[in-house]
Parts: sequence; structure tokens; C-alpha cells
Amino acid sequence: MPAFRAPRGTRDLLPAERAAFARLERIARDLGARYGYREMETPLFELSGVFERGIGEVTDVVEKELFRLAPRTEEAEAWALRPEATAGIVRAYLQHGMHTWPSPVKLMLTGPMFRYDRPQAGRFRQFWQWDVEAIGDAGPAVDAELVELGLRFYRDAGLADVDVRLNSIGDGVCRPAYIEVLRAHYRPAIDRLPDVERARLETNPLRLLDSKDPALAALNAGAPRIADHLCDPCAEHLAAVRAHLDALGIGHVVDHALVRGLDYYTRTAFEFYRRGAEGQQSALGGGGRYDGLIELLGGRPTPGIGFALGLDRVVLALDAAGRAAPPEAGPLAVVVGADPGATAERLRIVTLLRGEGIRARADLGVRKLGRQLEGASRDGAHFAIILGDELADGEVQLRDLQAGTQRPVRLADLVRELQRADASHRHGEAAQA
Ligand code: HAM
Repeated sequence: MPAFRAPRGTRDLLPAERAAFARLERIARDLGARYGYREMETPLFELSGVFERGIGEVTDVVEKELFRLAPRTEEAEAWALRPEATAGIVRAYLQHGMHTWPSPVKLMLTGPMFRYDRPQAGRFRQFWQWDVEAIGDAGPAVDAELVELGLRFYRDAGLADVDVRLNSIGDGVCRPAYIEVLRAHYRPAIDRLPDVERARLETNPLRLLDSKDPALAALNAGAPRIADHLCDPCAEHLAAVRAHLDALGIGHVVDHALVRGLDYYTRTAFEFYRRGAEGQQSALGGGGRYDGLIELLGGRPTPGIGFALGLDRVVLALDAAGRAAPPEAGPLAVVVGADPGATAERLRIVTLLRGEGIRARADLGVRKLGRQLEGASRDGAHFAIILGDELADGEVQLRDLQAGTQRPVRLADLVRELQRADASHRHGEAAQA
């Protein structure tokens, strides 16, 4: 047993898994750029207030899951690792005066987030999100556009069976009255509520709706629906988002219990699930509108909407189907030598090849040629470049490990030969695919 292990709820991404993440990041970046989103970064930690105020003091994410950094003695500021990206992006939007940019400001970010969650399947303390935000557009068309983008990501990633669930959680006009209706519904049963839910009835009664506690099942089934309590503008917004989704041919389910776990949401809220796996724990991604957040963090009233897709869960789903990791590319060529000790020559030639952009490795161990060639085959290399006595005359042996053929090549022609062989090899692979 090693003395140290990765912290609970975190894990190392070994090369094959890192490649699976890299593939998703590539898909996300390409798609985001195609839809007009520009990539940015925020720090992995912020002043805690960004999250406390932005996400809400009485959310699980802030109350229970925020990774707070112990302040250094000389440091008065309280920091926390980012549990999500939206609050930090909005903080940056305000700090850099992005309201003067052409509207909407469309931003995206891919990176690790941190939540002190109870680790379990698909729930980590460090996890990766692709986050996308459109700030400045009140919708409803952009709401549908984002849902379509999310679904396209899953499809391109290789998950064809992802559905979207949708709801409106109202706004400052209609939600307070609905919350009172909701409280009135649960209050007669207050003695039967588990402690956590009883507290929530006061602080954040919406969360009772998506509680998985069996004690609430019957109560929740009969709970008043927010859809019946929306003000006219919110109801019209929801209807218009749905009409836009219909126009795109996107089937969707309105889920009256979908309330999301972060306080900044208004109106549109949505989550992505694999078909048959609906339920809070298993959301592949989620998002919604946050028309009050920019003002809450000190800006002028500005609408916004976005989503974050959990990349870990996509990798897990692809893994289960055996489709997560793209095949790793081995070197095109490995430089080996008849003289086991002549490592300097091998290093010199491989450096030359790399300088020309060729994916190459040299055998830098002092071992017999046969072992060097075995290593080259094990790496999946297409060619071995064998250095021997002819090197003095500017010549090497080029062995095609896949075809089992070998011929002399002038050193001066080597790069061109390798590039040509690689191109025709790729062409052959593409024709077969
Ligand atoms: P969220 O629903 O808290 O939303 O997280 C989005 C996604 O991140 C989840 O659906 C899930 O796939 C993944 N996720 C969350 N927590 C964990 C965890 N502990 N382990 C693994 N994956 C996890 C947000 O974060 C909002 N900022 C989304 C948003 C952007 N809304 C508007 N703009």
C-alpha cells in the first residue's frame, strides 16, 4: 500500500482516460466556436462571496459543498475553490466591463470544479465541466438554441440517447407567491418531514419538490405545480421556448419538479439525462436562465442563460459502452541502431525528425538491435529507422514494420519518405473507415 493516495473523491486521469477527456474537450471547443462562443478562463478560486452571493447562501453547493481555503494569517480575504463556473464568469463580465461588448456576450470555459460532495458513482469532489454562457439576451430563442447545442454535444460525443427535461421556475414577480402556496401545501405535514426537509421548508422550499426522501413521495406527487402559478410573462416565455424547441424538432418533457440546486435561476431551467436514467444524481448536465445574477453581483440588470455539462459523467457513460478512449497514436518511426552504445547518433536523428514535425521516438537504451526492434513493434510504430555502418555514407535502412519490408534510404530523403509513407498510410486508413 503506497503511503499517499489521491484525496477521496478525486482521481488521477491516466493517459487513456485523459485522452477520453481531451476528445470531449475538443468536441466542446469546436462546437462552441461553431455556435459563436469564445473561450475564457477564470481562476480556480475566487473570493467566497462570489459564490455565496451568486449561487446563494442556503444552497447545498454553498452551505455544505464549498471547498473553503484556510486563510493565511496575513491574508484577510476568504477564498473558496470554484464549485461551478457561472458565478466566476459573471464576476469577470462585470470586472472587465463586458457589457460594452457586442451583445450577447457568448463565453465558454472547460475545466475542473470542486464540491465537497459525498463521493459516490458519478459524484466527485473534483470534476470537469464544459460551461457555456450567453449574457445579454433575454430569449426565448437563445434558450432553445442552448438546449440544441447541449444535445448536439452529447450526440457528437457518442451518446445518442440523451433527453432534455425542462421547467420554468418563474421570476421575482411570481415565484414568491408560489413559494407561499408550496409552504402551505407542506406545512400540515411538517411533523412528518425529515429534519433536513423541515429546515428547507423555511429556507428553500422549492428544493422539497426534487427531494428523493421516500417520506415526501406522496406529498410531492400532490404538490402545486409552478406552471399553474407563473405570471403571464413567465408563462409566455416558457411557451415560446417550447415552440422554438418544436421548430427545431427537439422533443422535450416538462418536469414540474425540476428546480435546480442554485439560487440564481429564473424562468427557464433544464437538465440533460440519459433515457431511462432520470433522477437528480444522474444529470449529465444542466443549466438555465439567470436574469437576476448580474444585478445581484453589482451590475446593471442584464439577462443571461447558460449550461454546464459534466464531462466525467459523459466519460463514464461512454466507458460503459466501451467507447470512451480514442485509439492512441503510436510513433510513426522509431530510430534504432546496430551499435547498442551509439545512442548519441540515434538521439541526433530523432531530434532532426521531430524538428520536421514527425512523431518519432528513438531507442535510447543500450541494448541489442533485436530488442530495440521488438520495442518499436510493441509501440505500434509504422517504421524502424536502422542506423548502421552506412550512416557514414549518409544512408539508413528504413524498415516497414507493418509490411515486413526494408530498403536503404538517403538521410537527406528520409523526412520526405516518411511523410509520403505516412500520408498514403492515412489515406488507406480513411478509405477503409
Ligand atoms: P449543476 O447542475 O450544478 O449546474 O452542474 C452541472 C453538471 O455538472 C451536472 O449536471 C453534472 O453533470 C456535473 N456535476 C455537478 N456536480 C458534480 C460532481 N460532484 N461530480 C461529477 N459531476 C458533477 C451548474 O454548475 C451551473 N453552473 C450550470 C449553469 C451554467 N447554469 C447556467 N449557466
